[in-house]
Amino acid sequence: MPIHPLLVKTKLYKLILFLTKPFNKVYTYMTFLDYVSVNRNHGFINDYYNKKANYKNRFQLHETLQQKMEITQKPINYLEFGVAEGDMIKFWVSKNIHKDSLFLGFDSFEGLPESWENKKRGHFASAGNTPVISDNRVSFVKGWFQDTVCMSLKSIDFSNQSVFHLDADLFSSTLYVLFQIHQYIKKEDIIIFDEFSSFEHEFMAFETFRKCVGKAWKFQFLGAVNNYKQVALQIK
Ligand SMILES: C[S@@+](CC[C@H](N)C(=O)[O-])C[C@H]1O[C@@H](n2cnc3c(N)ncnc32)[C@H](O)[C@@H]1O
Repeated sequence: MPIHPLLVKTKLYKLILFLTKPFNKVYTYMTFLDYVSVNRNHGFINDYYNKKANYKNRFQLHETLQQKMEITQKPINYLEFGVAEGDMIKFWVSKNIHKDSLFLGFDSFEGLPESWENKKRGHFASAGNTPVISDNRVSFVKGWFQDTVCMSLKSIDFSNQSVFHLDADLFSSTLYVLFQIHQYIKKEDIIIFDEFSSFEHEFMAFETFRKCVGKAWKFQFLGAVNNYKQVALQIK
């Protein structure tokens, strides 16, 4: 007889669940460190191990990619999932000069839908206001990804190279977006994560996605800063 009827009947599984949860976390963390180790010394930029991780380094990663991939003068689609005050979308708009480029930002502008690490639900809220960027190549889609992304992506022409910037922090939001963009990604497109080292969230979402679609695509490592907090990949 299998053991599970006994565990269910006695509710002993609850105790085992409680006791084994930390091991699950440790396992995910070691999986993340394996990713770090495999890609160590690779990429156009990689500061591992960097004792002085800092916010400005994320711009350095994006700028390095723009230069190395020569995408400042080409028409691109830059899609950002998680915009908040718009620091990074503003940066891309200022660096890419092609008139046919498209910059599209998705956000509830009501902050995180769930707590994430030490941030509470609602963190990053901007009272529903979208950033002000005076450039007609830029637009925003306001609302929860689950209500907006699928429909909005249908109207985009994905023939230009696309840069997908995933900065929604949460496992749920990131995984949802990855599966939504899946049907539109193509070789040479770039995916950038902003909180990759949040290993139970963005990293885990990527791992889950990669396992599901991994045979169709290769995700070539392009670089990382702030000890793999920000990571860039290219579809091959
Ligand atoms: C870290 S902030 C984005 C920062 C921004 N990319 C930058 O560079 O300054 C994360 C954002 O993701 C948004 N977000 C997370 N999950 C979401 C979801 N499911 N739907 C809509 N917005 C979401 C939050 O509202 C928040 O503004």
